[in-house]
Amino acid sequence: MGNCYPYRDQPVTALQSEYSLWWREPEGNLLSVLEELGIGFVPFAPLGKGFLTGTVNSDTEFSQDDFRSSVPRFQREALSANQKLLDLVISIAGEKGVTPAQAALSWLLAQRPWIVPIPGTTKLHRLAENVRSVGVHWDDEELKRIGAALAKIQTVGDRYPATHQHLVNR
Ligand SMILES: NC(=O)c1ccc[n+]([C@@H]2O[C@H](COP(=O)([O-])OP(=O)(O)OC[C@H]3O[C@@H](n4cnc5c(N)ncnc54)[C@H](OP(=O)(O)O)[C@@H]3O)[C@@H](O)[C@H]2O)c1
Repeated sequence: MGNCYPYRDQPVTALQSEYSLWWREPEGNLLSVLEELGIGFVPFAPLGKGFLTGTVNSDTEFSQDDFRSSVPRFQREALSANQKLLDLVISIAGEKGVTPAQAALSWLLAQRPWIVPIPGTTKLHRLAENVRSVGVHWDDEELKRIGAALAKIQTVGDRYPATHQHLVNR
């Protein structure tokens, strides 16, 4: 009989899922499983779909065709409540002399050596800015301080509209 499980010969190289300063669920048990199995991790939406860059606030109007217009986390009240997190990102970026986007990306890079975030941008100068985050380093003390500050902040709003949210983790 032939091999019923051909995928056994094709080990998983990397997993892509959402991970950022405002979506840290992978820290629950996903990262440890990936570490154990030697699988890389590619965080999508590492800039919180733009929120962590400081270019979005509670006054931002999203066009109808912008996915964020239907995302609970991007509604006016949620954005207002989530400003605390953005303030933290802006503050740690300022201390480090980098942009908020670079702080958000370099924080992810600092979590594990096998984490490779994929930020999206339509602008070449932002691509260059984001790539420079590989040169931003955080020591253990700084990461501990950021972790303690994050632990005090509760992110408000689901990351998907109800029509999509119920499909997550089924
Ligand atoms: N979001 C999802 O649900 C999802 C799911 C699967 C895969 N992905 C993939 O993951 C990648 C990234 O996700 P994403 O694009 O949704 O979210 P993201 O990378 O977290 O954020 C992208 C947003 O941030 C802005 N931005 C990027 N760099 C910036 C900077 N330096 N300063 C200020 N603003 C900046 C972009 O606007 P500008 O274009 O104006 O710069 C865009 O609005 C994409 O390749 C996407 O296809 C996403």
